[in-house]
Amino acid sequence: MILFECERPQDGPFIETLLDTVFGPDRVRKSSYRLREARPPLAEFSQVAREGAQLLATVRYWPVIIRDMLTGTQTDALLLGPLGVHPGKRGRKLGQTLVRRSLAAVDSAGVAHVILVGDPAYFKGFGFHPALPRYITMPGGVDADRLMIRSSGLSQSLPSVGQVVPCIDYTARSAATSDHLTAVR
Ligand SMILES: CC(C)(COP(=O)(O)OP(=O)(O)OC[C@H]1O[C@@H](n2cnc3c(N)ncnc32)[C@H](O)[C@@H]1OP(=O)(O)O)[C@@H](O)C(=O)NCCC(=O)NCCS
Repeated sequence: MILFECERPQDGPFIETLLDTVFGPDRVRKSSYRLREARPPLAEFSQVAREGAQLLATVRYWPVIIRDMLTGTQTDALLLGPLGVHPGKRGRKLGQTLVRRSLAAVDSAGVAHVILVGDPAYFKGFGFHPALPRYITMPGGVDADRLMIRSSGLSQSLPSVGQVVPCIDYTARSAATSDHLTAVR
């Protein structure tokens, strides 16, 4: 039986191995990894699919900030990803189920914005829209054309020119905004 559940601290090394299989070890050179270096993923939203002892799929979330390059104001968001399904287990709705379940948790926590760098054809079905014509870039100034955003109806407006930066002081910020968000230790 396949189980979907929140990631546990002991899953960490197995998730890294799965992600190496899915994306290759060079994955850590992608700009999105610059947003993940400073802290662990968020435990409440990061989920796995497992069958017995085997880890089949993972989705992880990190807190980020979208900085308005014109006004300097900052907007909190979550970065969805990496999302990876073991090559031998694709096409069985594991990816879809992980994304739907984790986004339900994100919505329950009242998070306004989720961003990702990914394939629009896959993610549009989950309520993500291209960030363009807003010009929002990842570290290094790249990925404006592949960035997608999912915002709740009540969310504050996003910058027209923005940059996604790591959320370094997340603990303090989260205390002010939500008690639900903690990190995998
Ligand atoms: C993309 C990925 C997560 C999908 O997981 P999955 O469990 O195989 O997908 P699901 O079974 O939930 O969904 C399958 C559906 O998505 C579609 N799909 C899969 N990958 C897609 C892609 N890159 N673009 C568009 N559609 C895609 C399939 O055609 C299928 O459509 P259907 O239901 O109409 O037949 C998986 O293929 C994967 O790990 N790929 C490599 C890593 C990656 O690209 N991650 C996403 C970016 S972070």
